[in-house]
Amino acid sequence: MTWKQLFTSSVGKKLIMGFTGVFLILFLIVHVGLNACIWANDDGAIFKKAAHFMGETIVPRILEIGLFLGIILHIIQGMTLEIQNKRKRSVGYQIPLGNRGSKWYSRSMGLLGTLILLFLIMHIYHFWTPSRLGGIGNIHELSVVEYNGKEYLNLYGEMVTVFQSLIVVILYVLGCISLAYHLMHGFHSAFRTLGLHNQRYVRIVRSCGVAFSIIVPLAFAMMPVSVYLGWVS
Ligand code: HEM
Repeated sequence: MTWKQLFTSSVGKKLIMGFTGVFLILFLIVHVGLNACIWANDDGAIFKKAAHFMGETIVPRILEIGLFLGIILHIIQGMTLEIQNKRKRSVGYQIPLGNRGSKWYSRSMGLLGTLILLFLIMHIYHFWTPSRLGGIGNIHELSVVEYNGKEYLNLYGEMVTVFQSLIVVILYVLGCISLAYHLMHGFHSAFRTLGLHNQRYVRIVRSCGVAFSIIVPLAFAMMPVSVYLGWVS
């Protein structure tokens, strides 16, 4: 397969979706693990140090560029595949198959992806812009905390501020529900596209996919809820 075919053929586009999908799944594991430090109930000390490592050291910063490129590529190829599939299906089935053909979330990957994109725009505005750009609009510059004479950006304080709003907490929970359903199809689909066809392994990956799609978004959703309800301190 040539580079051009990788970006233009259906198989190439699916491969890109698979690779970027697995990369984004790995990112979610790191992100949820790091954020879970807020439950250490140490006024966010471990979380602030871990976030500082991710934001201020060279390897995570280079990976961050890869992450944004991966997200953009995943969105563009996902959109073109969705349009392509819609055109192919434009004749439609005479009898609607409903859930007998596939699950609703497998048929709604484009819609779920769009909801996640809207969530991401809000999310980047809340945390990434103040951390990297010093804030835009009514999102302000982050405060700084000091541990053993070293300065850290107070991303934990930002979480406490952002998650005081019930509307924001509800939007985050809805974003996490969209992520759960997107992963429910995307997780095993990514591995299958990358060549996992053996029936025994397919079943294992499917089960891991279901577990991952429930546990990770649930943990993410519990973060704004915990802050709003004052379960972290
Ligand atoms: C719902 C709970 C979540 C919380 C509390 C949270 C918190 C944060 C924080 C504090 C940052 C800034 C990190 C920094 O600048 O060093 C961040 C960045 C980011 N988050 Fe989240 N996040 C959550 C869920 C998600 C989800 C579900 C996704 C993906 C679907 C996501 C994707 C991202 C991305 C792409 C970035 C920017 C990457 C980077 O800083 O390198 N987050 N998040």
